[in-house]
Amino acid sequence: MSFPSIAIDPSIFREALGHFASGITVITSHTDDEPIGFTCQSFYSVSMNPPLVSFSVMSSSASYPKIRQAGRFAVNILSGEQVRISNQFARRGADKWSGVEWQLSPLGNPIIGGNLHWLDCEIHAEHAAGDHLIVIGEVKALNLLEATATQPLLYFKGQYRDLATHCVT
Ligand SMILES: Cc1cc2nc3c(=O)[nH]c(=O)nc-3n(C[C@H](O)[C@H](O)[C@H](O)COP(=O)(O)O)c2cc1C
Repeated sequence: MSFPSIAIDPSIFREALGHFASGITVITSHTDDEPIGFTCQSFYSVSMNPPLVSFSVMSSSASYPKIRQAGRFAVNILSGEQVRISNQFARRGADKWSGVEWQLSPLGNPIIGGNLHWLDCEIHAEHAAGDHLIVIGEVKALNLLEATATQPLLYFKGQYRDLATHCVT
């Protein structure tokens, strides 16, 4: 079956992609005594051996050039109580770190307090893709301790959601 090639309207494309539910992360790094971070939905696992993960970042991101310069980043997987954190790190130019508790990871990346889990990565590769960059990181450390938060922050159809507590088998 073949379909005619049509121009995809960006707002309809965004709405279509909104049907894919995901968690939310904040990608962080640290350069020149300054913590850096931005909210990122496009995180996913890539490889088990070696352990690789990836995210996509807008080419116009103010944070990413500094993350590239540092050569490393942490993936902060947000918990259900961190809607404010997600919104705060999605605002360019704002004081993203105001009122945020954090500490440095083994690689020297900020770990945001109250997150569900974290991964500490070195940049492994970067590929240009349209108006975004695909960044691949090699995981060098992770949260071995059970986090106190238990529920993830979910994003579906443009809205934050709760995880229903029952499992579907
Ligand atoms: C729920 C949510 C998910 C987002 N996911 C991404 C993403 O995957 N990649 C990206 O580049 N920006 C994403 N953003 C937008 C950035 O967080 C936002 O543009 C931020 O201001 C970028 O900051 P910077 O310019 O300081 O890097 C997302 C925003 C929200 C609210």
